[in-house]
Amino acid sequence: MKRRKALKWTLIGGGIGIGTIALGGAGAFAWVYSASRIDTFGKIDFDKPLVVPPLAESVTDSSGSRVFDLEIRAGATQFKDGKATDTWGVNGDYLGPTIRVERGDEVAFAVRNSLDVATSIHWHGMHLPAVMDGGPHQMVEAGGDWAPQWMIDQPASTLWYHPHPHGETAEHVYRGLAGMIIIDDEESQALGLPQTYGVDDLPMVVQDKKFVGNNQMVEGGRFMGTQGTIGDEVMVNGTLGPYFDVTTRLVRLRLLNGSNARIYNFGFSDDRPFQLVATDGGLLPEAWETRRLPLSPGERAEIVVAFEPGDTVDLRSYPLEDAHQGPFNRFNGGDDKLDVCRFRAADSLSDDTEVPAVMSTAPDLADAEVAEERRFALSGFNQINGESMDMQRIDFGVREGTVEVWEVSNSDVYAHNFHVHDVQYQVLDVNGEEPEPHMRGWKDTIQLIPKRHYRIAMRFSEYTDPNVPYMYHCHILAHEDAGMMGQFVVLGEGEEIGQVPTVDSAHAHG
Ligand code: C2O
Ligand code: CU
Ligand code: CU
Repeated sequence: MKRRKALKWTLIGGGIGIGTIALGGAGAFAWVYSASRIDTFGKIDFDKPLVVPPLAESVTDSSGSRVFDLEIRAGATQFKDGKATDTWGVNGDYLGPTIRVERGDEVAFAVRNSLDVATSIHWHGMHLPAVMDGGPHQMVEAGGDWAPQWMIDQPASTLWYHPHPHGETAEHVYRGLAGMIIIDDEESQALGLPQTYGVDDLPMVVQDKKFVGNNQMVEGGRFMGTQGTIGDEVMVNGTLGPYFDVTTRLVRLRLLNGSNARIYNFGFSDDRPFQLVATDGGLLPEAWETRRLPLSPGERAEIVVAFEPGDTVDLRSYPLEDAHQGPFNRFNGGDDKLDVCRFRAADSLSDDTEVPAVMSTAPDLADAEVAEERRFALSGFNQINGESMDMQRIDFGVREGTVEVWEVSNSDVYAHNFHVHDVQYQVLDVNGEEPEPHMRGWKDTIQLIPKRHYRIAMRFSEYTDPNVPYMYHCHILAHEDAGMMGQFVVLGEGEEIGQVPTVDSAHAHG
């Protein structure tokens, strides 16, 4: 385990050192610099219908749980003409089905790992017992099974699932293991928002890829890059160059940045405004109208876009100004212009949904009594507060039922982001100022702009376990794998931090 970590560290860090030596002259640097930007605006054919992942089927067992079968397996996908690409998927060749559940549902998953390596399935954004979380302590052996279950008890929102094997998350996600989770609740269903799956309510798993000659996907950063894999082709739900035929005036897009490292800045080709209606943890109190929306890896956003009959417009990713500083913005993809998906509206559009004036209530932790304040400084490629992830080390315990405020900072010149398992948090301020509107709803993952510090507040409720930790980490997957991650437990009254079960006993119930 130690050895692998060191290796990965060199892989990311090495790019910079070698690059500096090899470049030498300013002329070479200028050449590499200008060749490092990708611009596909207006250059994509958009000739493939957008694949919409199927909804996962469930059967209700005798105890009333909805049971979903999920098989993780290897396959091959025809992304391009010619040779099929080797991929991994859940119940299919690439990505997995969308799991749509309602608040109050008892859910159970029959997870089977048909790969020849161990992996896991983590439910990103879900409030659930630590032992069901699917993090690096809940590995599913090659050929093994895992049967987590819990009750869905959180507001309507868009979450996702993906593997979390320590040191290998980047590879497993990149090969195709990811899927969306949609939670509905009574309030969300009554709002009148678009909610017909695949018609006016679309999952959009956005990922960037790098292909080599035989159509195989390869990982790897750009020269001088600091973030791990930055691809040069963008796919949505596994479709390269996708179009979607719009039949309704309003369409809700559930955007998920399922990429290893790339940060997108979404907008439309004609600069039309759109409404942000939900962030990671659920609906906003009221929609926020914007023309641009940044989204870092792991984050989700629900937007509602209005179309006119006969419209053709492209969803794009525009350059980012401040994701990384200086030349790092270029080398980490921040200057790229990328066409993502075309929308082609029919000559007549049905019009029976709306964005209501009031959708939900605002996060309410700003005035809560704070039990503990903590600081998290992300630095380098693998450290939080100067330490790397250790599977056996529980970094701290929080008390069930209390609210904590964490100050999270990025001291580097390139981006990190910050994800916490089990909870949704409220961003209180950014460098002491009110957060931008897209960060004002419930969040479980936020982008960390270089040199800024973010104060976030969260309440830890309900599930306690002194031995099995939840993770917090940078969701730039190469950083996460290198060790930019820590672990905490939620403690009940009188409980003390325990001992992480050893790998063998953790596997026993797999
Ligand atoms: Cu999306 Cu700890 O993960
Ligand atoms: Cu997570
Ligand atoms: Cu990072």
